Amino acid sequence: MSQASPPPADRAPVPHHVAIIMDGNGRWAKQRGLPRIEGHRRGVETVRTVTYAARDLGVRMLTLYAFSAENWNRPQDEVGALMGLLELYLRKELETFVRDRVRLRTIGRIEGLPAGVQRLLAATVEKTKDFADYTLVLALNYGSRNEIVDAAHAYAAAVASGKATPDDRSWESFERHLYTAGMPDPDLVIRTSGETRISNFLLLQAAYAEFVFTPVLWPDFSKADLSSAIADYARRERRYGQTSEQLKPAAATP
Ligand code: FPP
Repeated sequence: MSQASPPPADRAPVPHHVAIIMDGNGRWAKQRGLPRIEGHRRGVETVRTVTYAARDLGVRMLTLYAFSAENWNRPQDEVGALMGLLELYLRKELETFVRDRVRLRTIGRIEGLPAGVQRLLAATVEKTKDFADYTLVLALNYGSRNEIVDAAHAYAAAVASGKATPDDRSWESFERHLYTAGMPDPDLVIRTSGETRISNFLLLQAAYAEFVFTPVLWPDFSKADLSSAIADYARRERRYGQTSEQLKPAAATP
């Protein structure tokens, strides 16, 4: 028996929100005998390419795990270099985002980032806030466990001030306090470099996401790789706890 063939690319459903764990910059550099920072530099180029590739493919929101809460534990010179690259990237992209109508959002403990980076982020977020068609979300100083703690803290404060009731145990009321408030959950999470971990990324939001793990190192990740991940996603059946039969359209009754 032949397997059901995948839907042709032009009919394939495109995920609304794609989130990517960008991994493998260090290995990419090592393979070439280059310092790790060269891998990160190339990684920033891939960020640029993939930002526009995703939009071209019909994705409406792209979240990139650019700096995790745990990344502070890297050697100080690497952390400094990453912050420098981030600042340079933001300086260059501000005008480009305005020109190309890309909305920028951030998630994470932004207050823990260097002051210059915070100022650039705030300016870019403000200048692009009215663009509705395509959003780039940078996860910076982000960790899901911190996010849950921060949300619980904010919820408790809302209860203390009478803005929320202690008996309300609905997900909808809780999620309003997450960094991702107002954002749709990711449909597709991609991790590059062959690692198959989630690394404290969008743990709650990815509850029903599809995962694609690719061996490609982030600096080499291309539009074709993104397109192939999306094609893989299109072949999946998302059941949200239901059975396959329940999802099939009911047979026409005579
Ligand atoms: C992991 O590669 C990558 C990161 C630490 C985050 C990604 C950072 C960038 C793409 C550059 C900065 C981003 C922006 C938006 C300016 P790794 O170093 O862990 O790779 P390895 O596992 O091979 O060592």
